[in-house]
Amino acid sequence: MRLQDKIALVVGAGQTPGEGIGNGRATALRFAQEGARVLALDCNLESAAQTAQMIAAAGGECVPLEADVTREETLGAAVHFAVQRWGRVDILHNNVGVSVAGGDRRLQDLDEATFDRLSAINLRGTIMACKHVVPVMRRQGRGAIVNVSSIAAWAHYPLVVYKATKAAMIAFTQQLALENAEFGVRANAILPGLIDTPMAIEGRVRNWHRTREEIVAERDAQVPLRRRMGSAWDVANAALFLASDEAGFITGVSLPVDGGALVKVG
Ligand SMILES: NC(=O)c1ccc[n+]([C@@H]2O[C@H](COP(=O)([O-])OP(=O)(O)OC[C@H]3O[C@@H](n4cnc5c(N)ncnc54)[C@H](O)[C@@H]3O)[C@@H](O)[C@H]2O)c1
Repeated sequence: MRLQDKIALVVGAGQTPGEGIGNGRATALRFAQEGARVLALDCNLESAAQTAQMIAAAGGECVPLEADVTREETLGAAVHFAVQRWGRVDILHNNVGVSVAGGDRRLQDLDEATFDRLSAINLRGTIMACKHVVPVMRRQGRGAIVNVSSIAAWAHYPLVVYKATKAAMIAFTQQLALENAEFGVRANAILPGLIDTPMAIEGRVRNWHRTREEIVAERDAQVPLRRRMGSAWDVANAALFLASDEAGFITGVSLPVDGGALVKVG
């Protein structure tokens, strides 16, 4: 029980419909398995409620709540809800992010509306969630924030907004870590590589008009480790470690969970 008695906010704790499990849902389940009480936030309340049902079925405690990360007031209300109910917030896990599935573009095709929409979802949402949680964690004198970036921040990735926002999340996480270190609040980023989640696969099947099998085979082939994509559990386990007291002396890091993808240079 590595998160015994901890209160965790998981933002984006539902998942895109499709085969398998997404990173946010797997992380919420993993946190609950290790003893955390989870507030599962998502703009798709039904999906967050499914996550909560799965946690309850396994004997854990999870409350689903609707929150749209592009609307700051819903994030503020969620933090307020957690403090009212449990008196504290120990963990903030920011999982929301979209690229292909959200209509991201190459530079020549990019328009302002796409840039603004995806920036608000990927970057502004994380920043605003932190804005509301940090004062609570500072008062407690402890807390752990985990922001889900991507190896796209460092590797070749031609879709502009995802690349830029995921890179900005790393810079923001480093600053967050530095400014809050003296208060015992840690902040780290996870950089998933190619992960077999519904959003990654179904989004590409739909937008690129390709078969599921083709997309999966192409993604598998790019991964050095066993030529196979990672699973949402790989991301969830990394999040569990960074959120737990085992990572008590770790702040400001960017942890790739990518089967060796970032080791390939050139
Ligand atoms: N799957 C991959 O290969 C991969 C690789 C690198 C990084 N990531 C990152 O992992 C994270 C999760 O990806 P996933 O594939 O598990 O996706 P997912 O679809 O399973 O989870 C994302 C959740 O966010 C929710 N969401 C979307 N917009 C929202 C909004 N405005 N407000 C609140 N909730 C919102 C969705 O409803 C969904 O439940 C993302 O940040 C993504 O960039 C994924």
